[in-house]
Amino acid sequence: MAGKTSSKTKLSVRLSKDIVPLKYIIHFEPDFENFTFVGTETIQLELKKNTKKIRMHSAEIEVLSVELIQGKKTITGKTVYKDKEEEVDFEFEEAVKQGRAVLKLSFAGILNDKMRGFYRSAYELDGKTHHMGVTQFESTDARRAFPCFDEPSHKSIFEVSFKIPSDRAVISNTLESEVVEHQGGFKTVIFTPSPKMSSYLLAFIIGHFESIEGKTKDGVLVRIFVTPGKKKQAEFALETAVKCLEFYTGYFNIKYPLPTMDLIAIPDFAAGAMENWGAVTYRETALLVDPQNSSTHNKQWVALVIAHELAHQWFGNLVTMEWWTHLWLNEGFASYMEYVAVNHLFPQWNVWTQFVFMDHARALELDSLANTHPIEVDVSHPAEISEIFDDVSYAKGASVIRMLAEYLGEKAFRNGLRKYLKRHSYANAQTTHLWEALEEVSKKPVKKMMTEWTRMPGYPLVSVDITNKSLKLSQQRFLSSVISQKKVKDSTLWLTPVSIFSNSGKLKKILLSKKTTEFPFKEDASWIKLNKDETGFVRVKYSQEMFNKLAGPLEKMDKNLSEQDRFGIVRDAFVLSEAGFVSTDKALMLARSCIHDESYIVWAELATELGKLKNIIYNEKYYPEFEKFVRDLFSPIGKKLGWEKKTGEEHAKTLLRPTVLGVLGRNKDDETIKKAQDFFEKDKKGLKKLSPDMKGVVYVIVSENGTEKEFEYFLEAYKKETFQEEKDRILRALCAFKDKKLLARTLDFAFSQHVKAQDSFKIITFVWANPAGKDLAWEKVQKEWEEIVKKFAGGHLFSRFVKPAANFTTNDKADEVTGFFKTHESKGLERTILQAVEQIKSNAAWLTRDGKKLQIFFADR
Ligand code: BES
Ligand code: ZN
Repeated sequence: MAGKTSSKTKLSVRLSKDIVPLKYIIHFEPDFENFTFVGTETIQLELKKNTKKIRMHSAEIEVLSVELIQGKKTITGKTVYKDKEEEVDFEFEEAVKQGRAVLKLSFAGILNDKMRGFYRSAYELDGKTHHMGVTQFESTDARRAFPCFDEPSHKSIFEVSFKIPSDRAVISNTLESEVVEHQGGFKTVIFTPSPKMSSYLLAFIIGHFESIEGKTKDGVLVRIFVTPGKKKQAEFALETAVKCLEFYTGYFNIKYPLPTMDLIAIPDFAAGAMENWGAVTYRETALLVDPQNSSTHNKQWVALVIAHELAHQWFGNLVTMEWWTHLWLNEGFASYMEYVAVNHLFPQWNVWTQFVFMDHARALELDSLANTHPIEVDVSHPAEISEIFDDVSYAKGASVIRMLAEYLGEKAFRNGLRKYLKRHSYANAQTTHLWEALEEVSKKPVKKMMTEWTRMPGYPLVSVDITNKSLKLSQQRFLSSVISQKKVKDSTLWLTPVSIFSNSGKLKKILLSKKTTEFPFKEDASWIKLNKDETGFVRVKYSQEMFNKLAGPLEKMDKNLSEQDRFGIVRDAFVLSEAGFVSTDKALMLARSCIHDESYIVWAELATELGKLKNIIYNEKYYPEFEKFVRDLFSPIGKKLGWEKKTGEEHAKTLLRPTVLGVLGRNKDDETIKKAQDFFEKDKKGLKKLSPDMKGVVYVIVSENGTEKEFEYFLEAYKKETFQEEKDRILRALCAFKDKKLLARTLDFAFSQHVKAQDSFKIITFVWANPAGKDLAWEKVQKEWEEIVKKFAGGHLFSRFVKPAANFTTNDKADEVTGFFKTHESKGLERTILQAVEQIKSNAAWLTRDGKKLQIFFADR
């Protein structure tokens, strides 16, 4: 077992396997006036042993009655709550015999406002505020709606019914089987039984909806549900979902087992989306596309999220992880499959090229901290489970799958997946089960190869040198912080597929297994690069000589270097400079070689890396020189792109334009700033309409250079706006001002009634990332901590209020952050805090080490 804590103590939180739920029949009666609900449930159980006690999960639920029926006997019992454990024990007067039994409960609960369990979400209808009832059960919150065996391996059939006001609709995993109208404006809606599934996948949503629908070739009814008035924004989602479901049916070669696939936009939603079987719920921004008002970027995001959640219908719902330790089997896979599907549906978007920027690089970043965790990690308490929904489970998971798929070949990989899914349908699996299926099909040693990748933290830095026609490769765990490098002694060796290629175009593949490997390399190459297309989950450190030789082909855009290759060279140069392997001025010089490049990911990466550098040198004397450097670097590509979309231009160019102009604006390029301000004024006056692709960047440039006048404008605009995507753009602008007084108002606004709880963390994140707002954001978080705990502790968004602390750059701040959480509630934030503090110290060490060199570099220009 992976991880440090002994599995013995950990397992104690798991429920007994001797009590097996076969079927739940549950009836709910929500009260939308008092925000409460009552319910009854009948659970058919299989008992493997005689017992006097039945233990289930339950949180914030009051059990009103309990009885157990076995044969002709009815046994009454006592309810013992164990609040801390989120459990309830039903203790019976006499032993219940091994075999079948039926447990009958009635209970009451709260329709809470915390976006978890069974909660309420507000929407407007005919000028009045209404509340819908919504569920969000993953990971461990089904227990907040009804007592249950709330673990992924306790799969069962669920049959639900609801008594609700007649003018409302209820959506659940399956189709309605019966509707009974009552007097007094109520109806009872009964749903057909679900397939055998885990409790975290159950869902029900009760409210007023509009919907549009379509059908797949297999006759699955696909419906998009939105709150009234938003039907027009559902069309893109419908088209995408239908095609996506058809694609997966073919890809996995297993039919989607339910008659309906519903996608529902929820106004208040903690996560981005949730894959409930047959009833996927979404944040509005992750589902709605307004043909006139949505950016290309957001449209792509919607497609990726839909593809992610629909992949879960197989990977997660049909086959489920045995325990949360294997969460990555859900999330890593869905994060991989979303690219496979979107690439199929929208080949012109080239999403695989973007993968290295959106997932691979982010995973390499988080996993370069000593405080990362292995993909497979021991977890027990709900707070520990929440904590692993991170870039390791998602993006590293997806990246190591991509590496493996590349190694096995597309066909063997797909056939292995099919075998795995078929074999474990309606059941649970562990990571090794996947390796077994892939191994059987590919006949390659998958299990052996993958063990370190999922059971050990981190990944290798591959160092390469060439001497006398021989190439020498060595591997060692990569840590981005110099301080961590000194502290951590890690001798893990990974089985790493590495490719080596050069200007000749020839490609050599090896499987690195030892610490060092040396082999003849006879080509007379003017340059050599490792890790073609960045498919391996590694970074590469070239010898000085090899590194210097890469600038030429980068500048000439040698056709043997793909976009991903150029991206990878730049990314590693900067990260290795943070880590002390390359001096930062060398990375900056290399950046200059990208001047002719037109690749979206190359420029997006440069923007990211230079943004990190900007953050650490913001208060240095030479900072204005740095800005000039950035302007010189980005100006030519900015000129090439211009402000207007060209007819028929490729998708990536449309994404690139706001990225480049944003960097220019943020680094005081007068022309860009003037242009943005001019566009903004004309758009306000209705003289010229800003394209949705450019709105975000224009707003931010305007506010960065703005005063109270612009602030008031954005503040009012935010309050009035109803389209969530536009609201998010305005919100970013409110976080970009330079005036501290205005930023303080933005921070107050974050916790006002005008900003939904689901969005408060965004303000904290963006103000903290604004060099002028860092200290203010941290002060605000400390001041509001009690409130933040009350609203978010235990929830999906809690850690988001701490994560941006990583923007700090001094050891004092690192100590301050550590100190604060020593004396304040931080359950479930332990790893996040350690990660942030490690990053802060690394930032500080980076500046101390390279500050002088940077000063010289910028003075010499
Ligand atoms: N299963 C998750 C939703 C989730 C996240 C539940 C965290 C509980 C805790 C869902 O499939 C998901 O991964 N959603 C992502 C969006 C996705 C496109 C990356 C999210 O919510 O961030
Ligand atoms: Zn997911």
